[in-house]
Amino acid sequence: MISMSKNIIVTGGLGYIGSHSCVELIDHGYTPILIDNLSNSKKDVLDRLCKITGQNIVFYEEDIRNREALDSIFEKHHPLSVIHFAGLKAVGESVDQPARYYSNNVKGSLYLIDVMKAHDVKSLIFSSSATVYNVDLSPPFTEAMPTGQVGNPYGRTKYMVEEMMKDIAATDASLSMTILRYFNPVGAHESGLIGEDPQGIPNNLMPYMAKVASGDLAELSIYGDDYETIDGTGVRDYIHVVDLARGHVMALDQSLKSTGVNIYNLGSGDGYSVKQVLSSYESACGNVIPCKIVGRRPGDIAASYADIKKVQNEMGWAPTKNLDDMCQDSWRWIQNRGKAS
Ligand code: NAD
Ligand code: UD1
Repeated sequence: MISMSKNIIVTGGLGYIGSHSCVELIDHGYTPILIDNLSNSKKDVLDRLCKITGQNIVFYEEDIRNREALDSIFEKHHPLSVIHFAGLKAVGESVDQPARYYSNNVKGSLYLIDVMKAHDVKSLIFSSSATVYNVDLSPPFTEAMPTGQVGNPYGRTKYMVEEMMKDIAATDASLSMTILRYFNPVGAHESGLIGEDPQGIPNNLMPYMAKVASGDLAELSIYGDDYETIDGTGVRDYIHVVDLARGHVMALDQSLKSTGVNIYNLGSGDGYSVKQVLSSYESACGNVIPCKIVGRRPGDIAASYADIKKVQNEMGWAPTKNLDDMCQDSWRWIQNRGKAS
């Protein structure tokens, strides 16, 4: 009897979203094969993943631009599909080092697709971002809205890979290309063993807030309180990383049964202001978080949130966790980090 492989290549598998997705994949009977060059993650995440799942997880410390290494991994594991998280993601850094971002994110994706073709792997799930929507649009954003007018090189790498996937899918009707546009992933696994662990000073709101709450940073700067929003501060669509991870398993199930290009927003569908997030985080940590209002951050828009009807109707996915859950799980992770390995 031929046994059906349930192997799934997960690039960037030790990163924030990749690690949470690895847990969900195992929970749903898949076997993730992780590839990560550790450029923005630490090896001890692997031990924590083994602890959470009770499994020995296969991991390769490799760069996805190492074609020979990819070839031998595909040759050995015969994956059913690839979930592609590996990428650089810091907007400001992408402005200073665009060539590095294009090489890592665009060239890396192209190499991966090339190796998939060589090994007859038909299904790819790609981590895209809400940042691909044209900057002048008003939320809620639907998947049909125009993309490509993007304000920075990071966002353009995501747009370029999306376009590449569409062009390549058009040449081969047997391919299944899924593009997931994440809104703002936050929170952590409820075990407190894995979570977001940015190197240096975080750029994004919740990791920054967490470092102020834990005393590592002095105060939060709120970037503008004069937007046309509920309280003047910026509004975003925060999604719990475990809900996002579950979305990947559902996208994978669907990808294995379908062909063509499928694009989905993954967000909660609700927008929360900076002040609303602050208030929820203060409740989670039981302390006042020092903050001050400063000027707007260049490149920011007033509000961004998803229309999630498509993913709800076609995949049956819906968020299960609210803003308080996100803040509580983030805080648990921040307190456990360091002592948990
Ligand atoms: P992360 O930095 O925590 O994880 C990415 C992982 O990929 C890291 O472990 C890093 O070491 C690895 N990596 C990077 N380049 C690599 C390469 N060339 N070869 C092998 N491994 C490589 O980031 P994340 O938050 O988990 O994001 C995952 C993906 O989702 C990224 O592509 C990111 O752009 C995208 N995304 C993230 C967000 C967000 O807010 N976190 C939002 C939208 C889209
Ligand atoms: C940022 C990126 C975006 C990326 C997304 C997810 C920019 C301009 N945009 O978006 O490309 O896809 O992260 O990784 O960097 N805020 C503060 N103080 C802070 C940090 C943030 O007030 O110290 C505010 C912001 O102005 C915004 C909200 O908090 O209103 C959320 O910010 P952030 O977490 O950086 O996410 P995005 O702005 O959505």
